[in-house]
Amino acid sequence: MVKSERVRKKYDRWSRFYDAFDLGGVNDQKKLAVDVLDLKPDALVLDVGTGTGAILPYLASKLGTGGKAVGVDFSEAMVARANARIQKLGLEKKATAEVQDCTALTHPDNHFDAALATFAFTSFPEPEKAIFEVARVLKPGARFSVLDTGKPPAGKQRFRYRYLKAVMWQAGFTDISLDVPALLRKAGLRTIKLHRFSGSLAYLCLCEKI
Ligand SMILES: C[S@@+](CC[C@H](N)C(=O)[O-])C[C@H]1O[C@@H](n2cnc3c(N)ncnc32)[C@H](O)[C@@H]1O
Repeated sequence: MVKSERVRKKYDRWSRFYDAFDLGGVNDQKKLAVDVLDLKPDALVLDVGTGTGAILPYLASKLGTGGKAVGVDFSEAMVARANARIQKLGLEKKATAEVQDCTALTHPDNHFDAALATFAFTSFPEPEKAIFEVARVLKPGARFSVLDTGKPPAGKQRFRYRYLKAVMWQAGFTDISLDVPALLRKAGLRTIKLHRFSGSLAYLCLCEKI
């Protein structure tokens, strides 16, 4: 089975207990990833690798009439849960989730006003291809906020990093050694700010399409 099919099936299986174990929970880091986008009320916002869409209600809360949050994920089971969440909260006008492979989005060029990706690219089978594809669908000037786990600066948390790297790869092919900020730059996205959260291996990279 090719890697992307294995990963997709894994998330189909995990979707049942993803929220129960709070794997997709909305913490302060994820809220910050939304806040730094500084969204206009009528913005069209993409959530890359939305999972069960846990962040969509918070994203929707930042939007007014005419604005919409669009979560995309290639796992049908994850997307079904995201849409069930949207319906339960009566947010259909402000949010939706679509089954999409982020390496081949069906949206046109220069379509979204902003985008977000939380703990997505390090678990993607073809992260570089997906980042170029997200850059394609963003409007020039659009902000893209990426929250993920990665290699700490030299000398810091090396033991935790090596342990987590091995565990996450074993658990499901998540590669936290991936230099996502470098790939964002390669795709032509300008880094506005790279913020490392102290005490954790997470970072937030805010960039914009030029
Ligand atoms: C670790 S989960 C993160 C979910 C959510 N963003 C969060 O913060 O909890 C990664 C998600 O990316 C999705 N994914 C992986 N590769 C993808 C691809 N090529 N296209 C779309 N979604 C993908 C998986 O199905 C999974 O739901």
